[in-house]
Amino acid sequence: MRLLVVGGGGREHALAWKLARSPEVREVLCAPGNAGVAGEPKARCVPVADTDVDGLVRLALAERVDLVVVGPEAPLVSGLVDRLGERGVPAVGPNRLAARLEGSKAFAKELMARQGIPTAAFEVFERLDDALGHVRTSPGPWVVKADGLAAGKGVLLCHTRDEAEQALRRMLLEGAFGEAGRRVVIEELLEGEEASCIGLTDGERILLLASSQDHKRLGDGDRGPNTGGMGAYSPAPVLDAAAEREVRTRVFEPAVRGLAAAGCPFRGILYAGLMLGPRGPQVLEFNVRLGDPETQALLPRLRSDLAPALLAVARGDLRGVELDWDPRPAVCVVMAAAGYPGPVERGRPISGLERAAALADVAVFHAGTAREGDRVVTRGGRVLGVVGLGSDVRAAAVRAYQAVDVIHFEGAQVRRDIAHRALGRRA
Ligand code: AMP
Ligand code: GLY
Repeated sequence: MRLLVVGGGGREHALAWKLARSPEVREVLCAPGNAGVAGEPKARCVPVADTDVDGLVRLALAERVDLVVVGPEAPLVSGLVDRLGERGVPAVGPNRLAARLEGSKAFAKELMARQGIPTAAFEVFERLDDALGHVRTSPGPWVVKADGLAAGKGVLLCHTRDEAEQALRRMLLEGAFGEAGRRVVIEELLEGEEASCIGLTDGERILLLASSQDHKRLGDGDRGPNTGGMGAYSPAPVLDAAAEREVRTRVFEPAVRGLAAAGCPFRGILYAGLMLGPRGPQVLEFNVRLGDPETQALLPRLRSDLAPALLAVARGDLRGVELDWDPRPAVCVVMAAAGYPGPVERGRPISGLERAAALADVAVFHAGTAREGDRVVTRGGRVLGVVGLGSDVRAAAVRAYQAVDVIHFEGAQVRRDIAHRALGRRA
């Protein structure tokens, strides 16, 4: 098989790394990829942006790829999979209509309400007056969410009425999130511990991956601004077998059934961001793709060949597909550039990459990196995802940090407490 992986972050490096290890895969193209992808055997980066739907379709046809694996949400929401389908190219990911599950939070919440999927109580608003009226007459705290895609920045947790009103004015009056914020969802703030549950689905059958947990805040102890994710680990003990069964029957099955009933069957990778609290698992959000950095912690634990499983998703028939997981936990620590999650400087040389990757039970996935001559330099906010495997979660974290500590670039930001919840639970 010749595959095309769309995207250029840590998730896509992990995908290319895993897929290149399949005996059935001859070549992995990656658009645009990064310096880490370019260094994988069988892999080749092509300079086509992951938002350039026309360019990606042309590339898939010109290279006669057998399967396209789409990493990020934007091309899915823009209809890349529909366009590839029209040209007979199989792809992993939902079509445009089904991708609204991530592309519109109002669509997702309305589906959840219809299907009885546990989630925070919510209202949808387009007019500022109505939204302000809701905040004035409801108890709070509130979560104000831009309806559309906002690169993870469109969710504001508001503990006071003032904060909520300000958030609404920014979105509905000042257009701070552009089109994405012209409609907002206001929902109740849920308490508990978050976890990620990701499943492959052919539109009917569901194959859940191992559980994982992301760390969205920049600083240790879950303080500071939200980021794309500063680390992850798998499995997440908070999602025990009983919770996972509940998530399968009360979240995944009704979501997949509901989308099929709405005339947009979901074929691809479905991600439920969950809050596990006193009311049991509640859905915070759906994504229509693999998580980043969850994927970097998941794929090193996957023993099965991923390529045939993804092909089965694209063909719409998951029957007979099973996935076998390494019982050892994995911990992924993100190394981010100075300034992240704000604007960052690029072009800082990175050293120690080879020494880190040579450590046993370590994988170094690149995110925002580029090659400059014979050096690898920084080229984005999240630069690397460094993964360690270990006999338990503590050993996995120790391994990951040993590898982090041999890698250097100026101004690197690293959280030192990735997996603290799993570690606290053990203590
Ligand atoms: P979302 O993009 O909807 O997942 O929101 C991003 C982050 O905001 C989540 O990972 C949570 O940390 C937080 N969040 C979203 N919705 C809620 C909610 N209803 N209650 C508490 N936290 C939330
Ligand atoms: N890790 C959260 C996300 O991929 O959206």
